[in-house]
Amino acid sequence: KNFAVFASGSGSNFQAIVDAVKAGEITANLSLLVCDKPGAYVVQRANQARIPTFVFNPKDYPTKADFEKEIVMLLKDRNIDLIVLAGYMRLIGPTLLKEYEGRIVNIHPSLLPDFPGKDAIGQALAAKAKWSGVTIHYVDEGMDTGPIIVRERVRIEENETRESLQKKIQEKEHKLYPSILQMLLTREDVNHDKKTCAN
Ligand code: GRF
Repeated sequence: KNFAVFASGSGSNFQAIVDAVKAGEITANLSLLVCDKPGAYVVQRANQARIPTFVFNPKDYPTKADFEKEIVMLLKDRNIDLIVLAGYMRLIGPTLLKEYEGRIVNIHPSLLPDFPGKDAIGQALAAKAKWSGVTIHYVDEGMDTGPIIVRERVRIEENETRESLQKKIQEKEHKLYPSILQMLLTREDVNHDKKTCAN
């Protein structure tokens, strides 16, 4: 199977996924990085790993539908089975959802439905929460609202700082995302199984 990663930032999750592919822990092809921030560090990581990239500036397109149409074409060219959002700071629009709903996943640094949207780590600290964590979920039209695949908890200590919490959450993300991706990319399709049984 083939998958694409969408990212906007430093790409530490992207790097963990690249490393997992290299180590044979993900047995699918990472075929494309899509990045909406020219100059983001994740693009350098992709170049270094020789992963093809599509880097674009949304401002160069009249509407979201226009750049999403172009992305859909690239994904279809490469027979992409799964879209993996890893710090892609943009809502997925109807153009992409229509083609790939149920085949787009995201990782979020909180226990959803708590603290959706931007700066989930800051939100958890401001709320004086005792626990936060990591959620991997399917993507729908909302902001961090789609069906949850897995959640893992991280304890917030009394003296927790933004830096220390971020570090704990990222360490968890970098282990959890590759293992869940391997599961999603290699499991048998349920409908397909039913068909073979019926025959
Ligand atoms: C991660 O914390 C992820 O949960 C969130 O965005 C962050 C991306 O970080 N969606 P990085 O670019 O992978 O380092």
